[in-house]
Amino acid sequence: MRAALDAFQGCALKTTATQLVFEDGARKARVHLVGEAPGADEDREGRPFVGRAGQLLDKMLASIGLDRTQVYISNVVPWRPPGNRTPSPLEVAACLPFTRRQIELVGAEFVVCLGAPSMQALLEIKDGILKTRGRWMAYRDGGRQVPAMAMLHPAYLLRQPLQKRLAWRDLRALRRALDGEAPDLA
Ligand code: URA
Repeated sequence: MRAALDAFQGCALKTTATQLVFEDGARKARVHLVGEAPGADEDREGRPFVGRAGQLLDKMLASIGLDRTQVYISNVVPWRPPGNRTPSPLEVAACLPFTRRQIELVGAEFVVCLGAPSMQALLEIKDGILKTRGRWMAYRDGGRQVPAMAMLHPAYLLRQPLQKRLAWRDLRALRRALDGEAPDLA
């Protein structure tokens, strides 16, 4: 898949980015976290979520007993948008077949969409993230229905720390699902 993305010419962000930011974590993971797009730190290092938002993500994972050896991390867009702007719906759509294939190849039990662009692309939801977060939904992966939940993006939580209580609530729901409580899919 990495080779296919290296050969892909359908997303102009590739021409301004330093490098492809493909994945981090364990390929055999129970949880697949899908973020938005790389920022400056990720663009430099070639790994997702290594900057300040990534450090908060590590704390969020640690709060439910997880670390990067137990989750898989990618983004809906694998190249940094100039100036860290939000990727456009067109850019996300151009990369979506790769994102979907990545989710299929990893085959995690749970998908977590971090932030609105990931939620909108994967769960086909138009509502805002504050309305949708915290609810289990079905992500359709070929014939498989994967329980998926949108959560607040750690970069947003850095700007709005009072919202962390919502994120912590959602993380606890993920913990319960990992511990065997069957998610009630909306
Ligand atoms: N924000 C994201 O959505 N993804 C990253 O990889 C880093 C920051």
